[in-house]
Amino acid sequence: MRKMIVAANWKMNLTLAEGRQLVEGILAGLPELNNEKEVVISSPFVHIAQTMGQLKGKSHIYTGAQNCAAEAAGAYTGEVSAAMLKDAGVAYVIIGHSERREYYKEDNATITKKVNLALANGLQVLFCCGEALEVRDANTQNAFVEGQIQDSLFHLDAAQLKNITIAYEPIWAIGTGRTASSAQAQEMHAHIRSVIAGKFGNEAANEMSILYGGSCKPSNADELFACADVDGGLIGGAALKAEEFLGIINAMKNAKK
Ligand code: PGA
Repeated sequence: MRKMIVAANWKMNLTLAEGRQLVEGILAGLPELNNEKEVVISSPFVHIAQTMGQLKGKSHIYTGAQNCAAEAAGAYTGEVSAAMLKDAGVAYVIIGHSERREYYKEDNATITKKVNLALANGLQVLFCCGEALEVRDANTQNAFVEGQIQDSLFHLDAAQLKNITIAYEPIWAIGTGRTASSAQAQEMHAHIRSVIAGKFGNEAANEMSILYGGSCKPSNADELFACADVDGGLIGGAALKAEEFLGIINAMKNAKK
């Protein structure tokens, strides 16, 4: 059975004290989860050691990072390598977030290098894909997302693919309050699963967790997570408040699949 995952993406928010308090709040209300359900906290790099300490000994909740370098090591001022993240105890790394693609001009080739380095260092990859509003309006979103997956994941082998989780995040829904309808999410998730099946086979596609991201909140999480191909969420704004994030975690816990 494939896993459901609810992953927080704190983005560039919270002081260390605020981060500590947020994780304390999450841990205080965290429901008991089974082995098929996981929570990930992707904090800014400077929070990772603190968050790791707080999550030590807890089950079903892991530390994530929001990015890693496209190079292994060396003179790359300001970068953090996949090897450093692994060494720090990080389990997951978000790669290819639309904010990285747009504001930092990360193209599919750069993202592919990051995916390769993350996997080579034993990290789980949360690989983001998703279309902008113009693409959706032109009704070419399926081909666009397929291209992102093809360019950055199709060179992997079956064993590597097991360490990939896909997050579909329509850019027009990120931080805008405009969520994709559950029908739109399900349609794209099913498409993504068929793209994976076409290249890697049905078994690999069935095992792939595909998360939805973009204004996911407690009020819409139940409906989104009830969709057959929606295996959890990548959560921005609603992950910054313990109560809201716990609401989404509970929606995952209660999702019947
Ligand atoms: P949002 O962000 O939940 O604030 O829309 C999601 C994301 O970008 O990962």
